[in-house]
Amino acid sequence: MGNFVTFAECVNSPSSACLTSPGFLFPFVMFAMLVAVGAFSVRQDRTRYRRLVKTGLWAAFGVLFASLLAIGYFFVFDPDAALGVDGSALSQTLWLVAISAFGGAVALLIGILGFALGGRVSQIFMSQDAALVIAIDGPAASGKGTLAKRIAAHFDLPCLDTGLLYRAVARDVMALGGNLEDAKTACDAARLLDATTLDDPSLRGPAAGDAASIVARIPAVRAALLDYQRAFAQQPRGAVLDGRDIGTVVCPDARVKIFVTATAEERARRRHLEHVGRGETISYDEVLADIRRRDARDSGRDIAPMGAAADAIVLDTTHLNAEQAFEAALAMVLQRTAKS
Ligand code: DC
Repeated sequence: MGNFVTFAECVNSPSSACLTSPGFLFPFVMFAMLVAVGAFSVRQDRTRYRRLVKTGLWAAFGVLFASLLAIGYFFVFDPDAALGVDGSALSQTLWLVAISAFGGAVALLIGILGFALGGRVSQIFMSQDAALVIAIDGPAASGKGTLAKRIAAHFDLPCLDTGLLYRAVARDVMALGGNLEDAKTACDAARLLDATTLDDPSLRGPAAGDAASIVARIPAVRAALLDYQRAFAQQPRGAVLDGRDIGTVVCPDARVKIFVTATAEERARRRHLEHVGRGETISYDEVLADIRRRDARDSGRDIAPMGAAADAIVLDTTHLNAEQAFEAALAMVLQRTAKS
């Protein structure tokens, strides 16, 4: 161990002895330890880590502010002058407390910043190795969209309903007065698609879904939409995507793949109830016919037909309500992520 040189001495007149002096090295060792503790803490419990940083910052700034106020106050209203004594014990104690509190607050602030820095760096590495991409596929009206949104909310991940992309392409083709089967017009619409228009209410409903399943058969349309979907999936923490070919084509490496299904009759019953709830007049038989037509089109097409990936878990929701379906899907995600 080298000679003991204090930190203040080293700052005033740096020498080689400083490099081996515990007095000089101590603050650096403490800082490095706090960086390591921050990195470890964020991996253990992200919420507790955030709470610690927040509380630490509040405490440090609070003490800093109070000590600066006290120091300012003692400058203006010198206790010695008030007592009529020069260099009184009270005055010295008050100054010592205020200056120690200031020094302590600065040390605490630097420590918290070290802790936060460690956590931040660790989070960057975590997001690189732990991106969670969840692919949810299934036929029309299987409830996969609702499920995808709930799973995404649970894991705080972004969510993309890829059916909306095809619905929007069909809308744009029709707006141009084009034919849904015309590959060139549909492909141009797909290339020029403005993703900010996906919340357009006209994209909801059976007519838009039926039109979407027609343009979705065109290979160039699918190719034009692929990059957008893959880029969405490649967000730092991952994403949830629902559609027909997410697990098979768009994200074949997704960590979790779920294929949601239910009998056509049950899907038609649920969808019919939704229409009736919105005051729309459509018969159950019409809804069932629409669902069967779309199932046949989506699973019978040559390119990226709807189907479960070989490594997907099939979730049959025929006899499950929405809550039970969510619980079952969540258990599947947790089971898959525990293994990977
Ligand atoms: O999920 P949805 O009902 O909104 O989908 C509308 C149509 O879009 C569907 O019938 C087929 C097509 N689609 C597709 O081919 N591939 C996807 N990934 C998503 C939807």
